[in-house]
Amino acid sequence: MFLHGTSRVNENGHLEIGGVDTIALANEFGTPLYVYDVALIRERARSFKHAFENMGVRAQVAYASKAFSSIAMFQLIDEEGLSLDVVSGGELYTAIKSGFPASRIHLHGNNKSVAELKMALDHEIGCIVVDNFYEIELLKDLSHNYSKKIPVLLRVTPGVEAHTHDYITTGQEDSKFGFGLLNGQIEDAIDSVLQSDGIHLLGIHCHIGSQIFDTAGFVLAAERVFEKIKEWKLQFSYTPEVVNLGGGFGIRYTDEDEPLPATYYVEKIVEAVKKQVNELNINMPEIWIEPGRSLVGDAGTTLYTIGSKKTVPNIREYVAIDGGMTDNIRPALYQAKYEAVLANRVTDKHEQPVSIAGKCCESGDMLIWDLPLPEVKPNDILAVFCTGAYGYSMANNYNRIPRPAVVFVENGEAQLVVKRESFEDLVVNDLPLKSKVSNQ
Ligand SMILES: Cc1ncc(COP(=O)(O)O)c(C=O)c1O
Repeated sequence: MFLHGTSRVNENGHLEIGGVDTIALANEFGTPLYVYDVALIRERARSFKHAFENMGVRAQVAYASKAFSSIAMFQLIDEEGLSLDVVSGGELYTAIKSGFPASRIHLHGNNKSVAELKMALDHEIGCIVVDNFYEIELLKDLSHNYSKKIPVLLRVTPGVEAHTHDYITTGQEDSKFGFGLLNGQIEDAIDSVLQSDGIHLLGIHCHIGSQIFDTAGFVLAAERVFEKIKEWKLQFSYTPEVVNLGGGFGIRYTDEDEPLPATYYVEKIVEAVKKQVNELNINMPEIWIEPGRSLVGDAGTTLYTIGSKKTVPNIREYVAIDGGMTDNIRPALYQAKYEAVLANRVTDKHEQPVSIAGKCCESGDMLIWDLPLPEVKPNDILAVFCTGAYGYSMANNYNRIPRPAVVFVENGEAQLVVKRESFEDLVVNDLPLKSKVSNQ
C-alpha cells in the first residue's frame, strides 16, 4: 500500500487524510465522497513554482483546471500564486465567480464560441490560446469592439505525441488541436495575426500528451518549436515573448507508475529552452507550463460504501460500491488502474482479490479488477486513491445518479467545498409535458 501526502493509518486502523479520519468524513458527508488533501496540492504547486524560481527564469505555472474545477479549488490555486488554464465558458465563469485574477487566466479550446470569446475579452483575461484560422477571424472582428490589443498564443501541433513512457514523432500532425508546425499552417497563422492591429501575438503553445514519465518528449517538442522560431526570426522578424509547453506530467496511480519530481521536468525543459535561446541569440522567453493531473491527481481520494457481493464460482468475486463510472469514468473510458484499501480496516490481512463494481447499468462499469482486500463486509468503506484529477470534473448523471460531494481536508479540519447533488437537483431543468402542466 502506498500512501500519498498526509495520508496515514491512525490508531483506530482507519485511513486518515489531512489529519481527519476518513470514516468520520464518510459518516458526516456521506458517500461517495471526494476528499482532497489540501497540503499535498499546495506542496505540488510550490514545487513547480520553486523549480522555475531556482532556475532563475520568468515563468507561469497555470493549473489546467479541466482536471478538477470548483470555486474553492480556484481560490486555493490563487492563494498559491499559480495561473489558471480554462477551456470553456463554464470553467471561465467558475474562475470569475471565484474571484480569480483575470490577468492570470488563459482560455483554451478548439471551438470557442463568440460568446466565450466575448466573455474572456470583457474580463480582460491574460491570454487566449488560439487554435485555428476561424478563431483568428473571429478575434479580428471582435477586436474592433475593444480598445486593448488581444493577447494571444498560437497553439501548434509539434508532431510529437507522448504518452506514459513512450513518445512518437509524427511527421503528419494528425490532431484536432492547433496549427500544424511542420506543414506551413503556423506561418500563415503568424502572418495573419501580425497583420492585425487588434491582436498581440504573445507567443506559442504546444501540449504533447498526458501521464508522461519521461522528459525526452518535452525536450523534443521544445527543439522543434525553436527550430521554427529561428525561421520566424528571419521571415517575420518575430520572436515569441512566451513559450508554453503544456502539461501532462505523470503521477503514480499504481506501483507500475514511476513519476519524476516536478523539479526534474522543469529543469530539463528550461535547459532545453536555454540551449536553443543561446544558439539563436534571442531573448529568453517566459516559459509557461500547464500541469493538471500532477497538481491534484494524487491529492484526491474517493470514499465509497460497500454494498452487495456476487460470487461467480471459480472465477471471481464482485463487490459493489455506491458509485462507479458516474464519479470516475476513467477505468471504463481508458482502462485506468487504481489502488484502494478498506478505509475502516486498513491494516487487516488481505484475503483473496475482489473486483470492484460500480452501480451503473453497464457491464463496463468496473472500477478495479482483482484488488487484494481483507474479507469485505457490507458498509465497509472503500478508499480509492489518486482520484483527484478527471474524477469529479468528468462526473456525470448516468442512471440519474447524483454527483457526490467534495471535501477539502487540511490540518485536522474538513471543509465541504462542493455539495452533494440531490434528487431535486436532477430534475431542476426538466419540464413537464404541456398537457400535464395544469394537473400539477
Ligand atoms: C492543452 C492542455 N494543457 C494541459 C493539460 C493538462 O494535462 P495533465 O492533466 O495531464 O497535466 C491538457 C490535458 O488534456 C491539455 O489538453
